[in-house]
Amino acid sequence: MPITTRTLQERKQAGEKITMLTAYDYPTAKLLDEAGIDIVLVGDSLGMAVMGHHDTLGVTMDQMVHHTRMVTRAVEHAFVVADMPFLSYQTNPEEALRNAGRLVGGACARAVKVEGPAEKFGDAIETILRAGIPVMGHIGLTPQSVHRFGGYRVQGRTVEARERLMREALGLQDAGCFSVVLECMPADLAAEITGALEIPTIGIGAGAGCDGQVLVVHDMLGWGQARFTRTFADVRGAMAKAFEDYIAEVKAGSYPAEEHTYK
Ligand code: KIV
Repeated sequence: MPITTRTLQERKQAGEKITMLTAYDYPTAKLLDEAGIDIVLVGDSLGMAVMGHHDTLGVTMDQMVHHTRMVTRAVEHAFVVADMPFLSYQTNPEEALRNAGRLVGGACARAVKVEGPAEKFGDAIETILRAGIPVMGHIGLTPQSVHRFGGYRVQGRTVEARERLMREALGLQDAGCFSVVLECMPADLAAEITGALEIPTIGIGAGAGCDGQVLVVHDMLGWGQARFTRTFADVRGAMAKAFEDYIAEVKAGSYPAEEHTYK
């Protein structure tokens, strides 16, 4: 049975953890789906993980649509969420709906993700929801605001910041979000927010007390440097070795061998 927002809500009620990873292409999305992931996120981390940017701000709607389409072609079971990139929803609610429609109607995502509190983007969230598109919220270290934060820093370190993040989480739930990502905050705060919300929380750098976890797929395959990342398989190392071996064997004349040659 394909995963829906209802499945995710039931997972929270049953105390079953929700799994989410990013994908930006067909083969990765296919492997994630076959492995049984719950949510595939076509994140705007695309900009950093794949495109070589220093931040996510340069990612465009056209690029998000292009990569979301690759992912949704591969996925049969998981719930696909596509990120709304920088300035695709911040300008006005009509523009936000048009862009969400491209990701869901055009590229076949099931939902979109928006960074920031309902206090700022509640109108956009409400307009997207009114059209029948589920919205995932995202608070804490929201990478589209990296310059305002002065770098990639843990959020919620003061009493005031903790109270604000709790308010923002409740605000996104009230606005109708089906779930909220909590990024880079103290574990006890994320657990407190998770306990206060009826909708599921998905943590990244927010400890084990969230309803689910998300990582950027490249980070868990050897490219990650953040403290919260774990290398589940050193794919980066395996790729580097394969490239070095290929170069050495071509230079030595040992590849292609007899068995790789047409007669
Ligand atoms: O863009 C992304 O990959 C994200 C996750 C890190 C939550 O927003």
